[in-house]
Amino acid sequence: MHEIKHIFRVNGEPFFPLGGQVHNSSGYNLAELEAAFKALELMDANTVEIPVYWYQVEPEEGRFDFSVLDDLLAGCRAHGLKLMLLWFGTWKNGQMEYTPNWVKSDQERFRRVVTPAGYTIPVLSSQCEENRLADERAFTALMRAVREKDAEEKTIIAVQVENEPGILGCDRDYGEDSTAAFHSAVPAELVEQVAGHPGTPIHAAWEGAGARREGTWPQLFGWQAGEFMTAWQIAHYIDSLAAAGKAIYDIPMSINVWLGDGGHRIAGKYPSGGAVTRVLDLYKWNTPHIDVIAPDIYAADSASYRFECEHYGREDNPLFIPESAPGGSNARNMFYALGAYDAIGYFCFGIESMLDESGAVRPISREVVESFRAARQALPLLLQYQGTGNVYAVVQEEHAGGQTIDMGDYVAWVRYADSDQPYPRGYLYPRGGGPDGFDRARGLIVRAGEREFYLAGGPFRVIFKRKPAPDAELTPAMAAELLSDELPDFQMVEEGSLDDSGNWQPRHWRNGDEVTGGLWVDVKSGLVRVILTR
Ligand code: DGJ
Repeated sequence: MHEIKHIFRVNGEPFFPLGGQVHNSSGYNLAELEAAFKALELMDANTVEIPVYWYQVEPEEGRFDFSVLDDLLAGCRAHGLKLMLLWFGTWKNGQMEYTPNWVKSDQERFRRVVTPAGYTIPVLSSQCEENRLADERAFTALMRAVREKDAEEKTIIAVQVENEPGILGCDRDYGEDSTAAFHSAVPAELVEQVAGHPGTPIHAAWEGAGARREGTWPQLFGWQAGEFMTAWQIAHYIDSLAAAGKAIYDIPMSINVWLGDGGHRIAGKYPSGGAVTRVLDLYKWNTPHIDVIAPDIYAADSASYRFECEHYGREDNPLFIPESAPGGSNARNMFYALGAYDAIGYFCFGIESMLDESGAVRPISREVVESFRAARQALPLLLQYQGTGNVYAVVQEEHAGGQTIDMGDYVAWVRYADSDQPYPRGYLYPRGGGPDGFDRARGLIVRAGEREFYLAGGPFRVIFKRKPAPDAELTPAMAAELLSDELPDFQMVEEGSLDDSGNWQPRHWRNGDEVTGGLWVDVKSGLVRVILTR
């Protein structure tokens, strides 16, 4: 049992944002937004992420125009959606594309990163105070506008500060000032933080370089010094914006991360100084005004996907995934995040492209859309049971036929639809039609009481068996004995849904052929609620 840090709230109650992010340049284009709203409706989403661009809201220095917020708010309210705003300011994917022209054209005042070869790249330097001040003025103006336009209705539930910050191109700014900082003493505060946290990647780097208490960045951190210094600067830069913004309008704020892919790429190939795993601790120590640091997980293979979930979902940082793939294996992987890593919010990116010209879901996105619909049904259960040990992810890895879940006093034997057993036995799919093939299974099993279970997702079927003694170790012999018959022993099996208050609304009562061979669930059946006899 552990506590889930519910950062997102609506009317003071924990809220699970589930939805999508629009394409980068859709925020000011109402026609494109309509396609996004259509996709969100098909996904059964409750929240949308939309960027606000610095160049758009401050076309001339000091002249602000936030009328775009009126359109965004009207659109979201009309579609019954919550909104997460993304501030495209100093950084967008480790570059400065969304800064205003008056920033881009004054390189003396708004200094850029200089590479080791001595040329500048289109990335603003975190070493330059003018950059930070200009961004802070714009960001605080945005927060004032949000307060003015939304303090009452609270359609906006959170703000992401910058987008995938860092330097794309090299590990640090090699300009004069920054190089001087690099060869100056590492702040004592950071040395204390690092020395006090053995077991963290940054501590290992510090130890490897001799565990010195005083010295320059390269003396203390060796070859990783450039990335660490940039991370230190950017963490402080963004936190100062968040602090100033929250002083105006207190709302959850996040930072998203272009991942460094487990450490086998060098900084600069991904935005250096962003909150990748090796500097995540540094960020957590130095961004007290940021509520969550959130990985953009596009990994298709489940091992990489789970690696990121494991590293970002931690006691001081609940797992929040603001971007993921709008197709492919994300249809399954997302249930690892929701079921095994207690994600508190989940989005996929580029939702307009899930639909074809006629507004229908493209084949490549069908499974993801269906997974989002299944997840939406389970949100009241996630809010209630995450952290209790009663939420289980079902994910069919390639070629797998099933999985066995040890629930302590129960064993859940999950068989996927395309395993050796016919599925669902005696039951035509979906009541009257037959598929040509089966999707790979994905979903959730939630235990809501001693003998009460919910199934979401699909296509899979489950046999629950009580162990001879609670918490007895599940041996192969015991499994064989328990599973020697496949007869579900239940009092009630129903299809239905949960209303917003979490009350069960049954729709269809299953028995006879519909339960022979196991308790099955499919994305089209909605939630299945099961009460076992014993
Ligand atoms: C991650 C960025 O945060 C998004 O703005 C977008 O560029 C996607 N990558 C594209 O995959």
